[in-house]
Amino acid sequence: MTQQTIRKAVIPAAGFGTRFLPATKATPKEMLPLVDKPLIQYGVEEAVAAGCTDIIIVTGRGKTTMEDHFDRSPELEAALSTRGKDQLLELVRSIATLAHISYVRQPEALGLGHAVLMAKQLVGNEPFAVILPDDIVDAQPGCLAQMAGAFAETQATILGTEVVEGAAISLYGCLDCAPHPTNPRLMSVSNLVEKPRPQEAPSQNAIIGRYILTPRIFELIEQLTPGAGGELQLTDALRALLRYEKVYGYQYVGQRYDAGDKLGFLKATVDFALQHDAVGPAFRNWLRTQQF
Ligand code: G1P
Repeated sequence: MTQQTIRKAVIPAAGFGTRFLPATKATPKEMLPLVDKPLIQYGVEEAVAAGCTDIIIVTGRGKTTMEDHFDRSPELEAALSTRGKDQLLELVRSIATLAHISYVRQPEALGLGHAVLMAKQLVGNEPFAVILPDDIVDAQPGCLAQMAGAFAETQATILGTEVVEGAAISLYGCLDCAPHPTNPRLMSVSNLVEKPRPQEAPSQNAIIGRYILTPRIFELIEQLTPGAGGELQLTDALRALLRYEKVYGYQYVGQRYDAGDKLGFLKATVDFALQHDAVGPAFRNWLRTQQF
């Protein structure tokens, strides 16, 4: 069998962002910045760093600023050029050449499984990645690149996973899994449950918003009936996939933030601000002078 690599990444970005209202009333939550870069750009850059050349953004009504962000901006570029702001000009131009980006609309918010299904035609018959842009992972190499390395070994579906504390497991997809015999970061999955009640969770291993999926997932999503929260759940399609193919969990190395949540977003902001070349040192000094 020829070794397959991951060339395409799907980024679901059609949600309402209700946890961030009123900021997200007219601005997509994916465009909220961590310091100076919108959330979705972190996702696109992580996919590119993992070797993806094609990004498929699943979008919805009122979200066209995402398309403008990844497009050329002739007026802005001309203005920056006239003013001799070459570094900013280079920065603005580079965003439009990060990857080949396509957009597909999800007409109704019917769940994560349904959002991924919208990309079926654009993905075709090859393995692909899914990045949920709310989940920001600070890691070197990036989380998806780590998973792509494991995929080279398994050639099978891999879910990013981390251990969460106590009742928090009910916010996630949960894995019933056992250690892999040779790779300490991989786990062999035997069952998955979306948002279990804490007392019913088979483990504390939560799925995070990073997936490498084989294309059979599409036909399994098409057969789904509504699951947790009345939505078509990707986790339920993955459980069905177990009948045909191996599924692995991958314990990534890095720090994840749920940037779709106000507290997680603030923590990510502080982390990225401290690492920022221009403002990091001054921000660190200012923090030291504060009494908490
Ligand atoms: C989704 C998935 C869930 C996963 C989570 C990771 O849930 O359905 O399995 O654990 O993303 O962030 P959501 O957070 O969209 O409710």
